[in-house]
Amino acid sequence: MKKITYRFSHSSTDYYFDHRVADLRSIVDKKNAVIITDEHVFGLHHSRFRGWNIIVLKAGEEYKIQATVDSIVEQLIALGADRDTVLIGVGGGVVTDLTGYVASIYMRGLRFGFLPASLLAAVDASIGGKNGIDVDVYKNMVGTIRQPSFILHDAGFLDTLPPEEWKNGFAEIIKHAAILDARMFKELEENSISSYQKNTAAISALIKRNVLLKTKLVQQDEFEKGNRKLLNFGHTLGHALENQYELSHGQAISIGMGFACFLSKKKNGFSDGKRVVALLEQYGLPAYASFDKRKVFEVLKMDKKRVRREVSYVLLERIGKAVVHPVGLTEVKKILDQF
Ligand SMILES: NC(=O)c1ccc[n+]([C@@H]2O[C@H](COP(=O)([O-])OP(=O)(O)OC[C@H]3O[C@@H](n4cnc5c(N)ncnc54)[C@H](O)[C@@H]3O)[C@@H](O)[C@H]2O)c1
Repeated sequence: MKKITYRFSHSSTDYYFDHRVADLRSIVDKKNAVIITDEHVFGLHHSRFRGWNIIVLKAGEEYKIQATVDSIVEQLIALGADRDTVLIGVGGGVVTDLTGYVASIYMRGLRFGFLPASLLAAVDASIGGKNGIDVDVYKNMVGTIRQPSFILHDAGFLDTLPPEEWKNGFAEIIKHAAILDARMFKELEENSISSYQKNTAAISALIKRNVLLKTKLVQQDEFEKGNRKLLNFGHTLGHALENQYELSHGQAISIGMGFACFLSKKKNGFSDGKRVVALLEQYGLPAYASFDKRKVFEVLKMDKKRVRREVSYVLLERIGKAVVHPVGLTEVKKILDQF
């Protein structure tokens, strides 16, 4: 099987592009593995995992919480999981974040891998080793940084992905293009969700390009002291919105990107905000919504990128080039009021 291995500071990850679920048997020993998935993915794909130990979770961000971790740990104990057990997260970002987190803490750490089943998990959540859970309205408040040992991509999962989840995945793809890759931004402008859905080679190539863009950034800065912060473009406001309103991750960060473009214009003279907004809308994503700014600012203040009275905000200089810029909380609040 063809794999590409990427080294991180303490470990390495094998990437298997364009593979099939059935190839999993060549990577892990079925007897020592436990698959963690959610009810939607299980309902649609269980026949591909016949004979494997499986823990099935309730689907949705509201289950990315400590109670789910406790329940997984109890089920692992019941299955007799030990230090040789490999955990395999098969699902969207909620499943991969939870699996990585449980694998980091169960018996002080197990080997784990992912089969991303959503577009968002394929291009983003499965990569980079950030694992964790939400606490109340605070996204990813508790977690670890620990790399999976393998990521296996099977584009067959995308056949059952609901339309809204395609949009969520494209929110992160547009983010990557806006901050890192002007050529990919142009390719996206010339295409659409349906053109990618009809063309397996094009979507597989797009996934690979995004995986490699993110991997390169993570390799340079695994523990987010520098350039990895660029991946938070749109996420400061996005996270503050996501758990307070009925918004998907993609919608929330799209509004966050809309605001970050507005802020980039004020702070950096960024002049291409309209192109970013138009591309988000082309992929069915909102770049603006009305919300309670006071309430949202109260959560934004607690952002993990805040140091005392300043937030490290990711701003665009031009399409394909982002910078991290400290912005005072008072100024963020003022500009948010004008948004
Ligand atoms: N760790 C990271 O670096 C990182 C990066 C980005 C996002 N995330 C996290 O990822 C989460 C969002 O990921 P997501 O959008 O994949 O959410 P998700 O896991 O909730 O999946 C979205 C929905 O799609 C369903 N689904 C997934 N694959 C499917 C398939 N093949 N067919 C049918 N339905 C399918 C799921 O059951 C769920 O209902 C958030 O919690 C976010 O914080 C983490």
